[in-house]
Amino acid sequence: MADTKNILSEEKDGVLYLTVNRESKLNALNFATLEEIRNIFNEVSDNKDIKAVMITGSGEKAFIAGADISEIVELNELNARKFAENGQEIFDLIENCHKPVIAVVNGFALGGGCELAMACHMRVATANAKFGQPEVNLGIIPGYGGTQRLTHLIGRGKANELMMTGDMIGADEAKNLGLVNYVMPTKAEAMEKAEEIVLKIMSKAPLAIGMIVDCVNAVYTSEENGFQTEANSFARCVKSGDYKEGTSAFLEKRKPVFKGE
Ligand code: COA
Repeated sequence: MADTKNILSEEKDGVLYLTVNRESKLNALNFATLEEIRNIFNEVSDNKDIKAVMITGSGEKAFIAGADISEIVELNELNARKFAENGQEIFDLIENCHKPVIAVVNGFALGGGCELAMACHMRVATANAKFGQPEVNLGIIPGYGGTQRLTHLIGRGKANELMMTGDMIGADEAKNLGLVNYVMPTKAEAMEKAEEIVLKIMSKAPLAIGMIVDCVNAVYTSEENGFQTEANSFARCVKSGDYKEGTSAFLEKRKPVFKGE
């Protein structure tokens, strides 16, 4: 895995565990950390041994408390657009990853932290998780895709409220709004729940999982006809050995063994 200073990575049984490791700064995303995320996800796509990714933050207090404000203060009109586009590009890599990516949200997921969690395919939160887009308190708006992903996930009215007030919400409210899939009492239990989900997904046909990612993301891509993407992806699945294996196994009353081919 790419050489990283701010992210701990460990691969175990096909799962890549990533931990944003700037605990003294509540795991705030500085430029260096973002670049490390870019490098990691580029590698994840090519690495056949990695079947799934889980991302969490170091410690119990924060998942990620946002973009690093000490770097935001340096922005000017010229580089601010690049700042946002760069973050968007990196989070798109997560969202478009053909392997399942689950955020285990332990504590504060604010600003860029909430945006990173939303770029993941699913979110499992601890009971002490807090979500918010507090950029308005700094005189700015979310810039790493948050205005779009939050609106898609929880709807326009509530997204407007959270972004305009800068208020935080707790884990249970986030679950009620559809922002998180599960809330678990502790970080250890949240990790276990996320593992249970990835293990189940890893037993399915990997090509089909990648196609689901493409089709679901097509819903949110205005220039793409998602139904066409679905039909094309469906046809690609049928060309695969996994399709033959899945259908044969059903008819032969045995468990399929998928190879991702
Ligand atoms: N960027 C840079 N540093 C951050 C940070 C961020 N987004 N969030 C927290 N930190 C740093 C603090 O400056 C502090 O560092 P220090 O000990 O060197 O002074 C350390 O993390 C601990 O944070 P602190 O504010 O003391 O913790 P708290 O428990 O009192 O408050 C928060 C926690 C999350 C409510 C508060 O840190 C906060 O509001 N952070 C900013 C959230 C934000 O606006 N994010 C969006 C940025 S676009």
